[in-house]
Amino acid sequence: MPNRKHPMKSYITTPIYYVNGSPHIGHAYTSIVADILKRNRQALGVEMMLSTGVDEHGQKNQEAAADLGMEINAYLDMRCAEFREVFDRLGVQYDYFVRTSREGHKQAVAGMEQSIFDEGLIVKKAYTGTYCKGCEEFKKESDLTEDGQCPLHPTMKVEQTDETNYFLKMEPFREKLLQHIEDNPDFVTPTAFRNELKQMLSEPLEDLCISRPKSRVTLGVDLPFDTEFVTYVWFDALANYLTNVNWPSDGYEAWWAEVEHLIGKDILKPHGVYWPIMLMAAGLPLPKKLSVHSHWTGEGGVKMSKSIGNVVDPNEVIEMMGVDGLRWYLARHMRADSDSQISVELIRQAYNGELGNKIGNLLSRVAKFSNKNFEGKVPVAGTLTAEDETLRKTVLEAVSGLADWINLPEIPARVQAIVSAADAMNEYIDHQAPWSLFKNEETRERCGTVLYVTLDCQRMLFEALRQIIPASADKALTMLNAPKAATPWKPELDKLPGGTPLGEITALFPRVQ
Ligand code: ME8
Ligand code: MG
Repeated sequence: MPNRKHPMKSYITTPIYYVNGSPHIGHAYTSIVADILKRNRQALGVEMMLSTGVDEHGQKNQEAAADLGMEINAYLDMRCAEFREVFDRLGVQYDYFVRTSREGHKQAVAGMEQSIFDEGLIVKKAYTGTYCKGCEEFKKESDLTEDGQCPLHPTMKVEQTDETNYFLKMEPFREKLLQHIEDNPDFVTPTAFRNELKQMLSEPLEDLCISRPKSRVTLGVDLPFDTEFVTYVWFDALANYLTNVNWPSDGYEAWWAEVEHLIGKDILKPHGVYWPIMLMAAGLPLPKKLSVHSHWTGEGGVKMSKSIGNVVDPNEVIEMMGVDGLRWYLARHMRADSDSQISVELIRQAYNGELGNKIGNLLSRVAKFSNKNFEGKVPVAGTLTAEDETLRKTVLEAVSGLADWINLPEIPARVQAIVSAADAMNEYIDHQAPWSLFKNEETRERCGTVLYVTLDCQRMLFEALRQIIPASADKALTMLNAPKAATPWKPELDKLPGGTPLGEITALFPRVQ
């Protein structure tokens, strides 16, 4: 597979998550795939910046604190620590953890608003509308279900509001944004979401409400030109992508030019419509890319909810199958084009079947056998056969998929290629049967060759898996006593020399009943 041309810097962002509850599997997902993409690009030698974090303002968070009877700052600190801890536990190597309560962020947001206000693009007016706290968005009648509720938050009950607010003019920018999408086919991917966005922009846009009166919401950034109001939470939250890299101070430009936003399809409109128009209004360049993913649902395609009891708790999965059991399922089993199902049982099946039976057991069997019969060393290879070369080529090609720039929707297929390579290795071993070859003096050298070929292929496989399941892959590479791979990483054969002493071999993915 040829190496695509790629930039030398990349800035990946995840959404910043509302802190009205504990982190759930959806939050874990976007931050884990962001981490996978970071590790992949880092392996190619790209300089990386990854931001993730929390969205601390808005009505929903304010009410969640009130429900627990907690002082707001204590509440935010508690939730923030909780999110951070989960991401740390999941091995998400973020470079910047976002908190929108940070003073520097709030000042920059106010500065952006003031500059847009000075351009005459913000107007004050009375507005009657329906508000969904879950989305933190005003809804049109056509956005609601037949019984008048938000389809995304049916249990939250929309609210009728009749308030004076400040609004950003959107319509003057619509045609220009459509043209940008037309001119830049990779601006929004996959295509289905690009089309959805074009659809959203096919009709005149209403002005965007960018304030909330303090009588309703106090948790937010004061409007610089009217302190009776706080900034609408989405305006504030979206600006994190700029303030994380120190905008408006010097030095943000190089990162900003390479920014890629990862988001779930639920927040396509704020990222595909509001954000680009906010940036145009402020005279700033648009993000390079918006990578959109579908959702995880419970088994049977049912939306996960606490009342149904089908919510997958990341911490519970980690207790059972380790961090890598969870990372594996999320990376391997999201479909590129539609919602995908998740449950503890589905994760368990993938863990036992793919990680345990196909990948982990093979390493244990081959390395233990070599340990026992070849003085604790990687056997030395004799002449290679055509079958050996075929296997080596198969594995090299499969792992090369991770030595190439990966886009979000491509992750599952690249990981599946690794599973197929493991299948090929298992077939090879079953067919070559080194355990029988070892029994006769005449075939013992051949036995060593088969083991060598397999161990060296496994070394490449685990080098690739460092991007997906880093802790387990490193553990495997330590068992193999593999030399540290160089960066940029390029998979190469024969980097695990015969005669290398093997480390202690333990089960990588102990079976979970
Ligand atoms: O929308 N499957 O925060 P949020 C996959 N604060 N991903 C999911 C998911 C699921 N079932 N559920 C959630 C907000 N996600 C705003 C964002 S950004 C400037 C402000 C992930 O807590 C997915 O990334 O509702 C989704 O877009 C995000 O969490 C929404 O998180
Ligand atoms: Mg949400």
